[in-house]
Amino acid sequence: PSLSEILNLHDFEAIARAVMPEKAWAYYSSAADDEITNRENHAAYHRIWWRPRILRDVTHVDWSTTILGHPSKMPLYITATALGKLGHPDGELNLTKAAAKHGVIQMIPTLASCAFDELVDAAQPGQVQFLQLYVNKDRAITKKFVQHAEERGIKGLFITVDAPQLGRREKDMRQKFEAEDPAEVTGNNQENKVDRSQGAARAISSFIDPGLDWKDIPWFQSITKMPLILKGVQCWEDALQAYDLGLAGVVLSNHGGRQLDFSRSGIEVLVEVVRELRARRGLSFPNEKFQLFVDGGVRRANDVLKAVALGATAVGVGRPFLYAFSSYGFEGVDHALQILHDEFEMNMRLLGARTLKEVVPEMVDASSLQSH
Ligand code: FNR
Repeated sequence: PSLSEILNLHDFEAIARAVMPEKAWAYYSSAADDEITNRENHAAYHRIWWRPRILRDVTHVDWSTTILGHPSKMPLYITATALGKLGHPDGELNLTKAAAKHGVIQMIPTLASCAFDELVDAAQPGQVQFLQLYVNKDRAITKKFVQHAEERGIKGLFITVDAPQLGRREKDMRQKFEAEDPAEVTGNNQENKVDRSQGAARAISSFIDPGLDWKDIPWFQSITKMPLILKGVQCWEDALQAYDLGLAGVVLSNHGGRQLDFSRSGIEVLVEVVRELRARRGLSFPNEKFQLFVDGGVRRANDVLKAVALGATAVGVGRPFLYAFSSYGFEGVDHALQILHDEFEMNMRLLGARTLKEVVPEMVDASSLQSH
């Protein structure tokens, strides 16, 4: 179908499934075990209902914000997803270019198919990029990578903490990861031994250190001045510890359902984190000094605005952009972001919110969330 027939982000998934090579579809779409968490991620948004306000002049609506102090045209960012070249020869470059055009921030994955420097070089002057970090067993490699990223102007370091071991993504494991795969050599080669017999994820992840611990946080703080964010927090206790250690924020995420199955959705966790950090540290959200992010299952601006209403600074969106560039290259991602833009405009008007400051907790009925 032509792009003009694509009306929402779900459409990209259906098209990607039909046109993508089986192996790439298996890697992108798969989730852990019975994929219950993956399904729950989007479903959780279905339990939240709006309480919109009327008769407010909504001629002009503005959904721009700042993320870690940097301007973003929307309260969302393109989150890190590995192996972009499995879906399209330009890989993550598609995302860099579309992010620039739409004024949103891209999080570069450690396991990008494109070289890290290629993605930084491709950015427009002033374009903000973050880095997702998998911590190597060899800390010298990690230190070098982090300090290089800081020198290259990366504005936030998102340390993935939910993947001491990769989850079982059985759809992916049934595929062999062949030597001639274009994405085999990730641009930021971190690996030691590669086992190709059980899918892409296992082949590229053996360098990740399962020994990573809270004790390592001061070390990260000693090697970089970039804001540090933990990606993959799933309960208020760990969010509180991150705050007490002076980190810049946490991403409430279950890795797109690809790690521990039966983890709760990020939006579900958000409610308890906001409640407990208010009760225990007097914090209110959204908060400039300690920012809460959510990802997983976000498919519409409507979803994003629910997370904002409940206290998130911004949300991450993953698979929809992968499906968009796998099917249509840069134009697909461009169109996906345009769809979100149009959805934000309409939703802000229908909510009676002129700015994101007016998207407040009273605007949602989240009483059906378990964590409420
Ligand atoms: C991911 N994600 C991920 N996260 C991370 O910290 N490092 C990584 O290398 C990857 N790689 C990756 C690959 C693919 C194909 C997917 C789908 C996801 C997880 C990602 O950052 C995010 O948490 C989820 O993708 C969000 O869920 P949605 O938007 O994909 O539903």
